[in-house]
Amino acid sequence: MFQQLEQLVSDSILGLMAKYRADPFKQKVDLGVGVFRDLSGNTPILNCVRTAEKEVLAAQTTKSYVGAAGREEFNSALEDLVLGPAHPTRRDRRARTLQTPGGCGGLRVGAELIKAAAPGAVVHLSDPTWGNHAPLLGGCGLKLERYPYYDAATHELRFEAMLQRLQAASAGDAVLIHACCHNPTGADLSPAQWPAVADLLQRRGLVPFLDLAYQGFGASLDADAAAVRMVAERVPEALIAVSFSKNLGLYRERVGGLIVISENAARADAVQSHMLHIARSIYSMPPDHGAAIAARIFAQPPLRREWIQELDAMRTRIQDMRCLLAQRLQEVTGDDSFDFIRTQHGMFSLLGVSRDAVERLREKHHIYMTADSRMNLAGIMPDNVAYVAEAFAAERGT
Ligand SMILES: Cc1ncc(COP(=O)(O)O)c(C=O)c1O
Repeated sequence: MFQQLEQLVSDSILGLMAKYRADPFKQKVDLGVGVFRDLSGNTPILNCVRTAEKEVLAAQTTKSYVGAAGREEFNSALEDLVLGPAHPTRRDRRARTLQTPGGCGGLRVGAELIKAAAPGAVVHLSDPTWGNHAPLLGGCGLKLERYPYYDAATHELRFEAMLQRLQAASAGDAVLIHACCHNPTGADLSPAQWPAVADLLQRRGLVPFLDLAYQGFGASLDADAAAVRMVAERVPEALIAVSFSKNLGLYRERVGGLIVISENAARADAVQSHMLHIARSIYSMPPDHGAAIAARIFAQPPLRREWIQELDAMRTRIQDMRCLLAQRLQEVTGDDSFDFIRTQHGMFSLLGVSRDAVERLREKHHIYMTADSRMNLAGIMPDNVAYVAEAFAAERGT
């Protein structure tokens, strides 16, 4: 049976991590892997998570199954966080939420739901987008297309080209949009651009599939959900994949969800039955431990306050590094061509250099980035920023 399977080339990020680990150079810098790091280079367990985890374990009386939808209190707290407590879709019972194994689980269940409802629908992805979107959404057999989004050379959104392309998409297609902190570009639609996109989706009968993986990493929990709330209010149908990997630091516990908005409550019931059916057919039910921790943090005011403080600190650390790196680059180059690093959002930006330059940065300077020149700003530290800025300035332009 397996004779026909050829060896696949390994995931480039894993290869990059292996090269980084094997590099003996003392000043080596890892800007590759997509996790938050604190000032000591650690991906920390949040204090609120440590406390909630102890409480969860102390209160737990069984390891019995939880069911395909996951925890009810987690799902309603997730809707509170993402849509807000008084969103019209919730009032009208049009929103249905499923706890999923991470944001990836939400994306995949969403894709399977689209496939079940409209097998011929195309999913439009931004160009560029996160490397896992195509396998997650295309893996169930849906056709994928790309819409222009960002020009890495000029560091600008290709907003007009995006609208033009989506204008030509067929009614009933889905459009995947990063809700905030676009990965890998760090370039988000502005508050003035979002309504234009929402209008277009509504006018053309396109279904938004919003990916919210960095809520709280851009400006705040509420501000980062503003676009999701606005879009969900304007369109009859929408999907929202949510991840708590980054904002709760629960990466390996696989905590996330999928909200699906339907035209009316009766449709929503039918959609929910399919969401549950899909979950059962892929992984049966989501892992409980991380969601139990998250639900406890959302429900207990002191833990929730501590979480928001810790989340603010993660965001501030990244914003500080963005400012510091942009400032250093300005000093080294004497121009403002790297100012985009300061103004973009979230953990990532594209340096906007060639694959050759990325290779030179790795071989000559021991700075590790993915081939598209994506940098994780959480890999920048006050004590490596000058070194990184010198190297970027030396290798730019070619
Ligand atoms: C854009 C985007 N969407 C979704 C995810 C899903 O993350 P997870 O499945 O780890 O929750 C990530 C994680 O890196 C991401 O960057």
